[in-house]
Amino acid sequence: MSPEEAKRRIEELRDQLNRHNYRYYVLDDPTITDAEYDRLMAELKELEERFPRFLEPHSPTQRVGAPPREGFSTVRHRLPMLSLTDAHNEGAVREFDQRVKKLLGLQASGLVEYVAEPKLDGLSCEIVYRNGRFSLASTRGDGVVGEDVTPNVRTIRNLPLQLLTENPPEVLEVRGEVVIPKDDFEKLNQRILEEGGKPFANPRNAAAGSLRQMDSNVTAQRPLEFVAWGVGLREEDLPHTHWEMLELLGQWGFQVASPRHLCRGIEECLAHLRDLEENREAHRYELDGMVIKVNSMELWEKLGTTSRSPRWALAAKFAPRQMSTKVVDVVYQVGRRGTITPVAILEPVPIGGVTVSRASLHNFEEARRMDVRIGDTVVVQRAGDVIPAVVKVVEEERKGDEAPLSPPTQCPVCGAEVTKEGAYHRCVNASCPAVLVQSIKHLASRRAMDIEGLGGKVAQMLVDKGLVKGLADIFTLTAEDLLTLPGFAEISARNLRDSIEAASEVPLHRFIYAIGIPNVGEYTAQVLAEHFGTLERLASATEENLTAIKGIGEETARSISAFFRDPHNQEMVQRMMASGVKVIPVEREEGELPLKGQTVVFTGTLSKMDRNRAKDLVEKNGGKVTNSVSRKTGLVVVGENPGSKYQKAQQLGVKTLNEEEFLALVGEA
Ligand code: IVH
Repeated sequence: MSPEEAKRRIEELRDQLNRHNYRYYVLDDPTITDAEYDRLMAELKELEERFPRFLEPHSPTQRVGAPPREGFSTVRHRLPMLSLTDAHNEGAVREFDQRVKKLLGLQASGLVEYVAEPKLDGLSCEIVYRNGRFSLASTRGDGVVGEDVTPNVRTIRNLPLQLLTENPPEVLEVRGEVVIPKDDFEKLNQRILEEGGKPFANPRNAAAGSLRQMDSNVTAQRPLEFVAWGVGLREEDLPHTHWEMLELLGQWGFQVASPRHLCRGIEECLAHLRDLEENREAHRYELDGMVIKVNSMELWEKLGTTSRSPRWALAAKFAPRQMSTKVVDVVYQVGRRGTITPVAILEPVPIGGVTVSRASLHNFEEARRMDVRIGDTVVVQRAGDVIPAVVKVVEEERKGDEAPLSPPTQCPVCGAEVTKEGAYHRCVNASCPAVLVQSIKHLASRRAMDIEGLGGKVAQMLVDKGLVKGLADIFTLTAEDLLTLPGFAEISARNLRDSIEAASEVPLHRFIYAIGIPNVGEYTAQVLAEHFGTLERLASATEENLTAIKGIGEETARSISAFFRDPHNQEMVQRMMASGVKVIPVEREEGELPLKGQTVVFTGTLSKMDRNRAKDLVEKNGGKVTNSVSRKTGLVVVGENPGSKYQKAQQLGVKTLNEEEFLALVGEA
C-alpha cells in the first residue's frame, strides 16, 4: 500500500468509526455489529502503526489513556464560565420571568420564549474543537481559569473526537456536563466495595474523581459521559437561538441535554418542571433541577450578565435530598443473597417528599470506615430509586456517649453462623427464611413480575405459614391458602390470587430479572433477553456464548450458566411454567436469527425430528446445512450413535449440541 493509499484509507476508517461510535453511544442505535466495529478499529490501528506519521490525536484509536502526568496545567476560558441563579420554588421562577420582561421593556402579561432542559448534576467542562477536531478540554475551575483535562476527556466514549460535519467552524467551544449514568454509578460502587475500596457518595463525586485522575488510563475505565448544554465564545456563524444551537450540536455528534422543551411563557416551563421532578428517578443521569433559558440569543445580549451569572437563565432546583438526622439504633438485615447489611434506624426525617426512618450502611466495613455510632447525627441521602443511605457522620455533633458498632456474629433471622466474603458478612444457611422472603419480594416487585399486593409483609407471612417454600409456590397459591393469612378476607384473598394470575404473563427480560440470577440486574436482563429471545435459548447458553455478548463480563457469565445448571433452579423454572407462568419471547427481526450465516451439520440418528424438518429449522433460523465438518462449521447437532463427524467436530473444537439443545436454540423446545 502506498502512503497516499494508506492516508486515504486511514481517513475513511476514522470517519466510519466516528459515525459508528456516534450511532452506538449517542443514538443507542448501532448499524454494525461489535465484531465489525472491532475489525475496522484493528485495521486502523495496524495502518497507523505502519504509517506513524499519519497518527493524530483525534483518531478513534487514541481514546485510550495517555501516560500519567505530574499535575494539571491551567487553561484560561476565553469567555468566563458563569454559574446560574437558583430558584427553590415556583414563586421564584415566576419572579425571574417578571425580571426578564421588565429588563426587556415587555408587558408583564407578555410571553417570552424559553428553553427548558434538565440540570445535570455533574462537572462542567469546556471542550475546544479546531477545524472540527477535538483539541482541548478544561474543567470550569473558578470560572475564569480551569484545569487542562484533555487526555482524560479524550477517553469519554460518547464524545465526538471529530465533528460530524463537512464544514466545521474553525473554532468551537462546546460546554457541557461530565456525568456518570446512575446505573453505571451503582455498578462502579459495587465493584469498589467488592474490592474493599471506598465507594463514592454520589454520581457527581464519582465523575469528579474520575475526571481529575492524573492517570487517564484510570479515567478510561470509568463510565464517564459528556452531555452538551451550550457553547462558549461564538465567533462564527452559529444559530441565533439556543434551541437551534442545541439541535446543531446534536447533529454534530454530541449527546445534548434532554428532554428539552421550547416553551411559550413561564407557565409552560413550570408544567415541564413539575413533570421532570416527578420523573427524575427515571432519568439516565442524576438531575438537580431544570435550567430555564431565554431562547433568543439577541435577548441574551440585551439582558447581559451579573458578575456571577447570566440574567437570561435560571436554575429551578428540585427539593433537596440530603438531610441530617439522628441514628437511634443499628440493626442487621439479611438480603436476597444472604448478605447481612447494617441498617441505621433513624429519627424520621422528610427527604424529597418521603419520610425516611431507615438508611442503609452498605456493609459493616463501610459503617466502620464512616465510624457511625448509635446516637450520632448523620447526613442521609435519597438518590434515585435506591434505598436511602447514610453518607457521613456530623462529628461536630458528638457528645461522647455514642456507642460504636460491633460486627454481626450470627444471622439475625435464623441464628446460623456468619462468614465474611470481601467486605460482606453472609449467612451460611442456604435455606435461611430471610433469603426466601427477600427473593419473593424481589420477584413480585414492580420492575420484575409486578404482582400487586405482594410486598414484604405478605411475603413474610407466606413464608412463616409455610405456604411458600420456594419461588414457584407463589403460582400455585389458591384463594383458600391466602385466606389463612392474618388480615386476609374473601376479597383480599381473591384480589391477590387475581393479581398473581395477571402477572403470570411476563416479558422475557422482566422474568430474567425476577428470578434473581446473581449479578443480573435489569440492564443485563434486557441484554440477555434481546440476545437470546427465549428463555430456553438463554438457559442452554454456555459460559462462552455468554462472555461473547457485549456488556456481559466473565463473572456474570459464570453466574448465569451456574444458575441454569443448578437442578434446584431448573426445577423452579419448570414448576413455574407448569403452574401457568407464561414468558413472552422477544420478537426477532430477520437480522437477528440465532443461526445467521452459520453452517450446521447433523450426525447420528435423530429421534426428535426427521432430516427434512431439521433442515427447515436451520434455514428458517438463518443457517445452512452441509454434510461434512470443517473448521468453518458453526455447529454440529449430535443424534444417537454419532459417527466420525462427531469426533472430527471435537478434534476441531466445533460447537456440538444434542437434539434438545438444538431445538431450544431455535426456539422449538
Ligand atoms: S447553562 C452561564 N445548562 O450548572 C451558565 N448549566 O449551577 C450557563 N449545568 O456550571 C450554564 N446542566 O455546570 C447550564 N442544562 C444545563 C446545565 C448546566 C448542568 C451546570 C453547569 C453550571 C452549573 C450552574
